[in-house]
Amino acid sequence: MTQEIMECRICSSRELEDVFDLGEQPLANGLLASPGIGEKYPLVLTKCIGGCGHVQLKHTVEPTAMFEDYHFHTASSERMVNHFCQLLLDNTPKSGGVVVEIGSNDGAVLQRYKQKLFDGVLDNYLDPEWDFAVWGIDPSENLCNEAANSRNVDVWCDFFNENTAKEFVSAVGQASLIMCCNVLGHVHDLNSFVQGLALLLADDGKIVIEVPDVYQMVEHLAFDTIYHEHISYFSATSMARLFNQNCLYIQEITPQDVHGGTLRYTITKRVGNSNSVYDRINTEYLMPINWETFKTKVATQKAQLQFHLTQCKKEGRKVAGYGAAAKTTVRLNYFEIDNNLLPVVADCTKDKQGLFIPGTFQLVISPEELQLPANFPHIVVIFAWNHAKEIVKKEHTLVEKGVIFVTPDFLPVLQ
Ligand code: TMP
Ligand code: ZN
Repeated sequence: MTQEIMECRICSSRELEDVFDLGEQPLANGLLASPGIGEKYPLVLTKCIGGCGHVQLKHTVEPTAMFEDYHFHTASSERMVNHFCQLLLDNTPKSGGVVVEIGSNDGAVLQRYKQKLFDGVLDNYLDPEWDFAVWGIDPSENLCNEAANSRNVDVWCDFFNENTAKEFVSAVGQASLIMCCNVLGHVHDLNSFVQGLALLLADDGKIVIEVPDVYQMVEHLAFDTIYHEHISYFSATSMARLFNQNCLYIQEITPQDVHGGTLRYTITKRVGNSNSVYDRINTEYLMPINWETFKTKVATQKAQLQFHLTQCKKEGRKVAGYGAAAKTTVRLNYFEIDNNLLPVVADCTKDKQGLFIPGTFQLVISPEELQLPANFPHIVVIFAWNHAKEIVKKEHTLVEKGVIFVTPDFLPVLQ
């Protein structure tokens, strides 16, 4: 089920160096039906020192084990649905064509986007002949069914690669706009995926990609975004290498404030990356990541959270978690925080409620159940820190009752 990856997924160099080792870890999205440890797999980051500097996982886990029944739902975050819908609206080609979201998940973004189009948001500049089709492509069967049946979104259920692109193009046509957000990090065969993008994209079309930036991951100590599903950790340097070698070029890189360190890449077939891309690559070259410092800082954070939770327990102050995200499993396991220190994690995703975090045994409850006397907390640690403000806003009744919401470094969430 697990295999060591001997080559860089971008440039095929075999010179890979370990940079950060999280030990054996359970699958971050593998919530369990009863308290248990689940299967564990090695979780080690390596860096390509032979060519492109790409950072990737040292081992790979069979993809079907992770994606067939996928619990992450885009619809659970209104802010993210708005963010991606706006991305599509801002980039919708005036001449129409096929708009594709790769990694369309539960279809929430495309449903919203179609509504906005029909609501006439674009009426002002639409060509009367404007003709468009909106499609999602996603490998997860449960999510594709949800997108098609409950949201009336056209979906192509498959892993995206060169072959899928060929099949899609012959059935539907090339795309004038492709959006692919938080997907690339999950892809095993990066060159086949990007070759597929090149095949799918019309000559005058545009691809908009958002991926977490490895430099910012290190800067923000977001080690909890390292898990088996995230097999690549990109920089501008490795992105340029990957796309250029497949005849696609980066026109713009814009930082996004949605996911704690994400970059948006706008990519076309127009030859040559823009100057701003070279500026960023140059900065990355001049300021390489210091992985030793990163390790030390993460270890300090672990000691601090352990200390605070132990103190709370001694003082009889109840602490609950919020957000049973993949990053929650990683943090709880790497920090060795089990259900003795933190018994429950609230999450609004119905599919996750009643299940247990693998390895650390926390029960996932609904946000409403947090209000019950048995669970009512003094402090809530928002492990889904990227949604902290949205969560605190939603849970204002708890705030009004004196509950303190903190980030994983135990600092109050600032509104
Ligand atoms: P993510 O960090 O991978 O986006 O996952 C966030 C998790 O947090 C997901 O399981 C849904 C959950 N969540 C809530 O329970 N309430 C909320 O208000 C938000 C925004 C997310
Ligand atoms: Zn490489």
